[in-house]
Amino acid sequence: MATVSVSACSLQSPPFSLKSLRNRSNGRVRSRPNVFFTVKAATDNGGVTTSTDEITGPDLSVTVNGLRFPNPFVIGSGPPGTNYTVMKRAFDEGWGGVIAKTVSLDSSKVVNVTPRYARLHAPNSREVIGWENIELISDRPFETMLEDMRRLKQEYPDRILIASIMEEYNRAAWEEVIERVEETGVDALEINFSCPHGMPERRMGMAMGQDCDLLGEVSGWINKKATVPVWAKMTPNITDITQPARTAIAAGCEGIAAINTITSVMGINLDSLRPEPCVQGYSTPGGYSSKAVRPIALARVMAIAKMIQQEFPNQGLSLSGIGGVETGNDAAEFLLLGSNTVQVCTGVMMHGYPLVKKLCSELRAFMSKHGFTSIEDFRGVSLEYFTTHSELVRMQKEAVKQKRAVRKGLTSDKDWTGEGFVKETQTMVSN
Ligand SMILES: Cc1cc2nc3c(=O)[nH]c(=O)nc-3n(C[C@H](O)[C@H](O)[C@H](O)COP(=O)(O)O)c2cc1C
Repeated sequence: MATVSVSACSLQSPPFSLKSLRNRSNGRVRSRPNVFFTVKAATDNGGVTTSTDEITGPDLSVTVNGLRFPNPFVIGSGPPGTNYTVMKRAFDEGWGGVIAKTVSLDSSKVVNVTPRYARLHAPNSREVIGWENIELISDRPFETMLEDMRRLKQEYPDRILIASIMEEYNRAAWEEVIERVEETGVDALEINFSCPHGMPERRMGMAMGQDCDLLGEVSGWINKKATVPVWAKMTPNITDITQPARTAIAAGCEGIAAINTITSVMGINLDSLRPEPCVQGYSTPGGYSSKAVRPIALARVMAIAKMIQQEFPNQGLSLSGIGGVETGNDAAEFLLLGSNTVQVCTGVMMHGYPLVKKLCSELRAFMSKHGFTSIEDFRGVSLEYFTTHSELVRMQKEAVKQKRAVRKGLTSDKDWTGEGFVKETQTMVSN
């Protein structure tokens, strides 16, 4: 993976004071009330099966930014959240929440091509390990997407629906999108600062996410206008992802979502010598997702979680981990690194909406094995096992020193014991 250096990301003069951040953390009151999921409402609204809602076993529910998710599994913005029918399916199958496909005011500027996906297979296998897309944000009319979201919130008032939004560098446009999207009743907003293809040509998506000054200014507009929690979705195509994440939080965002796709070229067809996915003989670099990106996503999530822990502790901020999740164990790793929720996009495209049942049962099995009864029991516990390389060197030297000290044997005859006599003898043998 090639990351780009983005020198514009400097926090010398954050666009918003930390004072306003602290006010926001617990005191900033968005107008929407807490939302609580009930099994009854879910059953009334399409028969969510008990496998994801069951009361027995470890509790998978998660409450972040005042929003209660029945489980941490959230549909990531993309094809699985592209219209009413598929989002309804996600709720019916039991997904903890849905992030709709990214919308902007003028969908006529969004023109998709086909084919727009390309896959990487494991050697000598049909198993898909990597996925590239050159898909843009939603090409459906804004009003149509609003109507879909409104209908879903009416039919599933207790389920979490999050709108993903993107706009150009234009304050009035952002304010209009926010106002009209919020009118549908969505529970939160995710800001797409991260789409790596197509949109950056219009200075949108990743173009904003790589420029901290721009991101800070736009996040400021957004947070002044929004009355629901705001998550900023980060691009991994940057040298230090903590910089835009820090800027977004300082500008008032309540949550960070990471990662969006990684800039990629899936490959070159060695017969035609043309790149994939191939449109009229040409291609454009796209966004990489699925299994292969998970280690990269975990590293980014770890870095953001540590930054939040150190710089913004106890402020009720949320972290949504994304990238290559297909199993409950994959999700457990993101949770162990501090994520509150875990998003899945390509996994749903490959395995379908029922995947959530498997994710829930596998996560429950992991929790039972360790005796964890809730997500908070283990969220973030692996973070403390990351340190610097020089500290690893120091610890290893110390361990070797201690081992050598043991080999030197007993320092005095009074230290011999009956129980460990043979071992104690061995510590003083030279060959
Ligand atoms: C075909 C496709 C379309 C996507 N469209 C969007 C989008 O409109 N908005 C967005 O924020 N992310 C979009 N994403 C990124 C995903 O939400 C997610 O961040 C990324 O794919 C990594 O997660 P995954 O490995 O679970 O797919 C898209 C991903 C794919 C594969």
